[in-house]
This record gives sequence, structure tokens and C-alpha cells, in this order.
Amino acid sequence: MVGTNLDPFSDRYAERTHGMNVSEVRALFAVASRPEVVSLAGGSPFVSALPFDAVGSMIDELVRNQGAQALQYCVGQGDLRLRELICQMMALEGISASAENVVVTVGSQQALNIVARVFIDPGDVILAEAPSYVGALSAFMASQADIVHVAMDDDGLIPAALAEAITAVRASGRTIKFLYTIPNFHNPGGVTLAEHRRDEILQICRDAGVLVLEDNPYGLLGFDSEPSRALRARDEDNVIYLGSFSKTFASGLRVGWVLAPHAIREKLVLISEAEILCPPTFSQFIVAEYLTTQPWQQQLKVFRELYRERRDAMLDALGDMFPAGCTWTVPSGGFYVWVTVPEGLDTKAMQPLAVSERVAYVPGIGFYADGNGRRNMRLSYCLPPPERIREGVRRLAGVLEQQLELVETFGPSAFQATSPGDGPRSWISGPSADQV
Ligand SMILES: Cc1ncc(COP(=O)(O)O)c(C=O)c1O
Repeated sequence: MVGTNLDPFSDRYAERTHGMNVSEVRALFAVASRPEVVSLAGGSPFVSALPFDAVGSMIDELVRNQGAQALQYCVGQGDLRLRELICQMMALEGISASAENVVVTVGSQQALNIVARVFIDPGDVILAEAPSYVGALSAFMASQADIVHVAMDDDGLIPAALAEAITAVRASGRTIKFLYTIPNFHNPGGVTLAEHRRDEILQICRDAGVLVLEDNPYGLLGFDSEPSRALRARDEDNVIYLGSFSKTFASGLRVGWVLAPHAIREKLVLISEAEILCPPTFSQFIVAEYLTTQPWQQQLKVFRELYRERRDAMLDALGDMFPAGCTWTVPSGGFYVWVTVPEGLDTKAMQPLAVSERVAYVPGIGFYADGNGRRNMRLSYCLPPPERIREGVRRLAGVLEQQLELVETFGPSAFQATSPGDGPRSWISGPSADQV
């Protein structure tokens, strides 16, 4: 029999899976992970900067001394000792919280998913920055949310744009379930919500009865200043806060958390138990041991210095080599630079050429639910060392120059760039580990 691509189960899938397809971008990422390719695509932390010997001995002792607990199931809400330590950590951002209202999750990605499952009915609107984190968009869209993007500038989310979006959505008769925001060192935007906007945004949301979902995996990775006061520190009744040890310790342990008002916290635990029974005990014990026996604040400084050096390498290289007409954000922490390329170019169409020139990035379109982002790309500087970053930017600059020449010769239709957007998408492929 001749092979067929038809999926024999297609008539049995739930409606929410419609439009879920592995994108061609993923196939490209497989190529992009080859060693000869400089990847400016992924958001993987540079875990090699951890003191592996010390962490190894710590884990060894943990198993010897506490193996019977560390290798067993635990409670669905997460280990109490870790939840208390998480509260101490959040205090660095001005948050005062009780361990009772913390739920430990499998990375903050699972936290996004359980929040989505607790709040989103099909067709509900979630407000999210334009652009926004691909994994959050995937989680919300898997719950059949409609994403409405709200504009940002160099100071983060724009309060007037938020107020306008709320009014417009309400006028269309739809329900807004929450505002999803990444206030610090935005993924992918690279910007940070200015101090003077924080209270205003909270006030707008409170007045409109819109919950705020604050996602803050990078908050302790600022290069120049003390951590900003979290949104949750300013409004404990209307903000759900998400944290993670992925970027401050080890992404492979998959430990994150959600801090929520009490009533919401109960529902989150029930949904999480249905999903995973309990978060991984071993990982939780490792994190708790790390926070109590290792100089983790010192290690954070090591990470910050390292990422600052890489950020500088990327900004210098962009300034030296990127063609005129390209602009980019200047992050003061975190992992990402958001680039806008000249009119007529299309970062998605350009991607295969970039990979053939041995450099990878994430096209901007992945960070929008409405098809925008074709003139954007996210570049990350977290993983490659400075000289590789420079080489990657050099290769990418060459690709951009080639594309610009084509546009000059044949006009903007050379890439059939469709700007603004291609229209709403029912599903965002990802997040694959290369794109987080
Ligand atoms: C903004 C944001 N939220 C959530 C996550 C998920 O992180 P994890 O599940 O590893 O905690 C990421 C990962 O890159 C992220 O950038």
C-alpha cells in the first residue's frame, strides 16, 4: 500500500488541538543545533558556570542523608521547606508572602499552564505584551484563549495602550481574564517596565477588574541595579506571580512556582495534582539544599557578570556590523535583544538562508498571536561566549546585507513580506527547548 500522511485519529482529537502542527521552524532548529552553527536562538542559561563539583557533592550527600524523602513523592503543593525558602527569595523583590500561598510547579511553564486551565474558557481574552513569551502564548492558546496584544516601548508596557485595549475588548462584548506581563528583562523584548509605570498599570487593572499575571524568571538577573520592586509587592490581592529557578540555578531541574491569592491557590493545587500528582521531590530537595548550603547569591553575581559581558559583546557587534536601518533594544538584564529590520525584509523568510550561513535566531512572528513580527527577530546572548556572539552577528549581518540588496533590486515584494500581520493564529508552535 502506498504510504499516506493522513492521520487516522484526526476525527477523534479535541477541538483545542486543531491547528496544532509542528512548525517548519522546528525542523530548522534541528539543523541550528549543529556545532558549526552559532545559535543566537535559544534561551538556555549558561549552566556550565555553576560549580559542578560543589553541586555534585551536595547532591551526593543529599541522597545519602535524606534519600528516603528526596526520592519519594511529596505533597501536591510542593515541599514546605522549599516554599519557605522561595518566600525569602521573593523578599529580595519586596514581596511579603506566606509559604501557604506558594505552589511549586514543574518550571514556570507548568505554572502558566495551570493558571490557563483555572481561568480560561474558549474565547476568553488574555492581554499580553506585543511581543510576548512564546511558551505563555502556547499555554493560553491551548486553552483556546484569544490573545490581544498591547504595545510596549523602551519602558515596557504602555499604560494608555493597556487602557485602550481593555475598553476595546469590553466594547466587543468579550471577557478579559487577565493581563499577562513580563515586567523585567522581557522575553523576547529585552525591555523592563519603568518604575513610574508600575503603579499606573496596576491601578488600571484593578479599576477594570482585570487580574495581573506577573511572570518574572529574570528579575534577579539585572546588570546595573538592585532588583525592581515586583508588581506583586505592590498589590497582593490582584496579582498572581510566577517565579523560576531555571535562570538563576538550573533549568534542567524544572522547578518554578506560583504565588497566588489564597482562593486561587487552592484551585491551582487541584489542577496541578491532576496534571502531575506532585512536583519532582528530588529537584525540590536539590534546590532547597542549594539555597541553604551553597553561596547562591554569590553565584547570581557570577551569572550577572557573565551575561553582562555577553550582552556587551552583542550590542557592540550589532553597532559595528548590522546594516543601517536596523534597530534593537538595549537590555539591562536577562538574555535577549529584540531587533527590528528595515521595511521589506521578512525574518521568517530569511531564516533558512541564515541557517545555511551557520547562524540561528528566532523570527519575531513566533512571539505574536496575530501574525505580526515579520520585521523582528530575537537574539539571545546567554549561551555562546563573546567571540562566538560576535561571529554570529557578523554572519547575520552578511545575510541582512544580501537580503537588502535583493529588496533594492526587486522591491519589497522580493519576500512577499506581509506587514502588518498575517492575521490571528489558532496555535503557536512551541515552545521547543530551543526557543524558550
Ligand atoms: C518569560 C518566561 N516565562 C516562563 C519561562 C519558562 O521557564 P521554566 O519553565 O524553565 O521555568 C521562560 C523560559 O524561558 C520565560 O522566558
